[in-house]
Amino acid sequence: MEVHNVEITTSAVKPSQYPQTDIPEIAFVGRSNVGKSSLTNSLINRRSFARTSSQPGKTQTLNFYKVEEQVFFVDVPGYGYAKVSKKMREEFGQMIETYLTERPQLKGVVSLVDARHEPSEEDIAMYNWLTYYNIPVLVVATKADKIARGKWNKAESVIKKALEFDRETSAFQMFSAVTKSGKDEVWAWIEERMAD
Ligand code: GTP
Ligand code: MG
Repeated sequence: MEVHNVEITTSAVKPSQYPQTDIPEIAFVGRSNVGKSSLTNSLINRRSFARTSSQPGKTQTLNFYKVEEQVFFVDVPGYGYAKVSKKMREEFGQMIETYLTERPQLKGVVSLVDARHEPSEEDIAMYNWLTYYNIPVLVVATKADKIARGKWNKAESVIKKALEFDRETSAFQMFSAVTKSGKDEVWAWIEERMAD
C-alpha cells in the first residue's frame, strides 16, 4: 500500500476507548525493545511516527494509528519489561488479552521476535496463546541487519523450532527496519488479512 496519510487516532487502555469504527485492525506485539514501533514506522514510511526509544517499556497504552483510512495499526505495549511493578505487568497483560480476544475488527497479529536470538519463554507463550485463539499470526524476525544474510535461514529455523511453528495458521518473515528488507512481504500479509 502506498501510504500518504496516517493519523494517531487513539490511545486506549480499555475497550470503551477503542476507536468506534469497522476498519480492520492489525496488532503488533512483542517484547519491549524488539522493534514494534520501528516496524510500524517503516510500514508507514515515517521516521518517527510511532514513538521509538532505547528505553524499554515506554509504550504503555494501545496506540491506534489509522493508515489511509483503511486499516488501524495497533502498537501494543511490550511484554516482559522487568522494571515495571508486578501489579502493572498484570494490568498490562489484562489490557492486551482483552484487546486480542474481544475485538472483532482485529484481523491478525504481527508477533515480533529478535532475529538474533532464540525466542524467549514469553515469545513462545505469546505465540502459543495467539494460535490457541486462532488468531492469524505473522512472526516477524526483526533486526535482521544485525546478522549476515548467509545466516538468515539458520535463524529462521531456530525460531520456528522453538515456537513449534504451525505453517497452517502462521506465516514468517525476516525484517530489518534499517534496510527495510521484508517490508513489502509484511505489507502483502497485512493486505491479505485486511481483505478477509
Ligand atoms: P517498546 O515500545 O518499548 O515496547 O519497544 P519497541 O518494540 O517499540 O521497540 P522500538 O521500535 O522502539 O526499537 C527499540 C530499539 O531497537 C531502537 O533503538 C531501534 O532503533 C532499534 N531497532 C528496531 N528495529 C531495528 C532493526 O530492524 N535493526 C536495528 N539494527 N535496530 C532496530
Ligand atoms: Mg514501541
